[in-house]
Amino acid sequence: MAVTLAMKLIFAICIIFCTSAFQAMSRTLNAATIAAAHEQWMAKQGRTYADDAEKQKRFKIFAENLQHIESFNNAGNKSYKLGLNKFSDLTAQEFIASYTGLKISNLPKPSKVASFGPLNLDDVPTRLNWTEKGAVTPVKDQGKCGSCWAFSTVAAVEGITQIKKGTLPSLSEQQLVDCVTDNHGCNGGVMDYAFKYIIDNQGIANENDYPYQAKQGSCKSVSSTAATITGFNDVPDNEEQLLQAVTNQPVSVAISVCDDFYQYQEGVYSENCYRQLNHAVTVVGYGTTDDGKKYWLIKNSWSESWGDNGYIKLWRDSGVPGGLIGIAKKASYPTI
Ligand SMILES: *[C@@H]1O[C@H](CO)[C@@H](O)[C@H](O)[C@H]1NC(C)=O
Ligand SMILES: *[C@@H]1O[C@H](CO)[C@@H](O)[C@H](O)[C@H]1NC(C)=O
Repeated sequence: MAVTLAMKLIFAICIIFCTSAFQAMSRTLNAATIAAAHEQWMAKQGRTYADDAEKQKRFKIFAENLQHIESFNNAGNKSYKLGLNKFSDLTAQEFIASYTGLKISNLPKPSKVASFGPLNLDDVPTRLNWTEKGAVTPVKDQGKCGSCWAFSTVAAVEGITQIKKGTLPSLSEQQLVDCVTDNHGCNGGVMDYAFKYIIDNQGIANENDYPYQAKQGSCKSVSSTAATITGFNDVPDNEEQLLQAVTNQPVSVAISVCDDFYQYQEGVYSENCYRQLNHAVTVVGYGTTDDGKKYWLIKNSWSESWGDNGYIKLWRDSGVPGGLIGIAKKASYPTI
């Protein structure tokens, strides 16, 4: 009762006297709204912090991210939207350091480049979705480990196995993290070395027989093999050749993750924030939106809760050489 009376009184006084007080109130409300959003987000994500200092630090980053998301989405003329996700209390730099993991520099190239020859667009369907065709396993989660390269490799091998053999296995990223000595486990790697390992090892284990740990361990031998490949090819670095490759099967690609990419929620990502190839994903299709924007359909490895159910659509034929965020620069695929 007392509170209600006091509030009524303040409210009445405000109505009469104080526009500036209203402005102050709405500023406070705004800060309070962000604080409430942070609490709600923490509860949803199960996030806890070691102490108040850590919480304050994370709150500041969360607030900046939330404000960026709001102002970006409210600007309204973009082909994609951003949103909160489990990474929303991290800066872009922190995120990239922990959750990507493509390391191209200093690694010699073990593979060959296979060109498809000039593209005949009449032979290429206008849209393709390998997930719809049953050649893509559910989206997985690399966790806090720079093993994107293992997830990209596995998705491509799962895809070609389903296409050629008719059954879709779920394969072991952990085996690659532990056993591909040319790569660096959770500290990064490339897909071509992983393809080479699978060939040399005469196969790769099932996910259940060699489950994911999100950390590097010793290489274990497993008796059963769930899939084999006989070779792998690199795709010449342009989007026409990539399109040809994707019409045959899911394709491993490298991309440059920067700026707000990690806050992507839906639509066709169109920011060319190219800096360096630092992440690996799998192109599992392509299409064109109702308003005519061409996209690549990409399976990521940041769980189903990230982006568009774990996927992202990326602007295709943007005119950027090598594709937007470098998508056509380091594409490769396994063969059976
Ligand atoms: C959005 O608006 C900005 C500024 O007016 C403009 O430069 C940009 O081309 C617009 N983008 C789209 C996708 O319409
Ligand atoms: C691709 O197929 C999957 C499975 O049918 C579906 O959930 C998804 O929306 C499709 N995506 C596109 C872009 O067509």
